[in-house]
Amino acid sequence: MSNIPSILKSLRIPVIGSPMFIISNPKLVIEQCKAGIVGSMPALNARPASQLDEWLAEITEALADYNAKNPERPAAPFAINQIVHKSNDRLEHDMELCVKYKVPIIITSLGAREEVNVAAHSYGGIVLHDIINNKFAHKAIDKGADGLIAVATGAGGHAGSKSPFALVQELREWFDGPLALAGSIASGKSILAAQAMGADFAYIGSPFIATHEARASEDYKQAIVESTSDDIVYSNLFTGVHGNYLAPSIRAAGLDPENLPESDPSKMNFGGDGKSKAWKDIWGSGQGIGVINEVTSAGEFVHKLHQEYIEARNELLKTSEVFA
Ligand SMILES: Cc1cc2nc3c(=O)[nH]c(=O)nc-3n(C[C@H](O)[C@H](O)[C@H](O)COP(=O)(O)O)c2cc1C
Repeated sequence: MSNIPSILKSLRIPVIGSPMFIISNPKLVIEQCKAGIVGSMPALNARPASQLDEWLAEITEALADYNAKNPERPAAPFAINQIVHKSNDRLEHDMELCVKYKVPIIITSLGAREEVNVAAHSYGGIVLHDIINNKFAHKAIDKGADGLIAVATGAGGHAGSKSPFALVQELREWFDGPLALAGSIASGKSILAAQAMGADFAYIGSPFIATHEARASEDYKQAIVESTSDDIVYSNLFTGVHGNYLAPSIRAAGLDPENLPESDPSKMNFGGDGKSKAWKDIWGSGQGIGVINEVTSAGEFVHKLHQEYIEARNELLKTSEVFA
């Protein structure tokens, strides 16, 4: 096992609920944390920017209240995601609020910046940086990130293109800090597999779209329930960077998911200006949703993962006896 900061040792199961543009909101974050996994949301989901102050107050107060009433089983810590790309002109403002509220975990994506890490460390926070290859991982750690999130092929959002085995194996050659693995993880067995592979945490996004708390339309939630990996299309058309999307939403937008043109890289848009159609009308999703068969509460879903995880661990112990 790697060097895990104490703040991440309190989880009920080794899972981080990943941040999702538009979808994640304080309600989802609070329920994820109460259920015992890290809950997170992108700072950019708060609009206008001033709303972030209110949202951070809401999350901090709700979790403090929960912890006061449940001292024997306190909530897991929460995380705020910062898009560290030059198109994000709110970064400084949003980081100042994270410092004000001492956000326990900062998740950085689309770039690594030393000043963000320094700001988080100033109050004892930690930074996990998401990467899709070993080169970006080295850069992130050199700039002071505490941990890594390996985004493998099949993940929702801006997925990588590498096998999770290739990524984790290479990272574990040199990195012994906290490591989360992302990409299609949607069951207790898969969480255990991520750990067996060398990761410390499973980083799970798309399955949480089909929860009552998620800020997604009922049609989007239903599409997650009804779709499988066959319905996921990998394209760079919508934001300039390759990502995974639900084919039915692409068809509904009048496009043929099997014949999408390549994007114009000069028009990269990560949603920072609020104008991107991607994510709102073109629905993001990873490939792991084939096992999501109903819309439930986030707490119920985490409970299911927990049960499956314990069962998988017990099963594995039996198998390892056979091969010992
Ligand atoms: C709809 C959607 C929106 C996303 N938005 C963001 C985002 O704003 N910032 C970010 O770092 N990752 C974003 N992601 C990626 C997730 O944080 C995470 O890497 C991914 O969901 C993990 O793969 P999975 O969906 O297969 O579980 C998004 C993913 C989805 C599905």
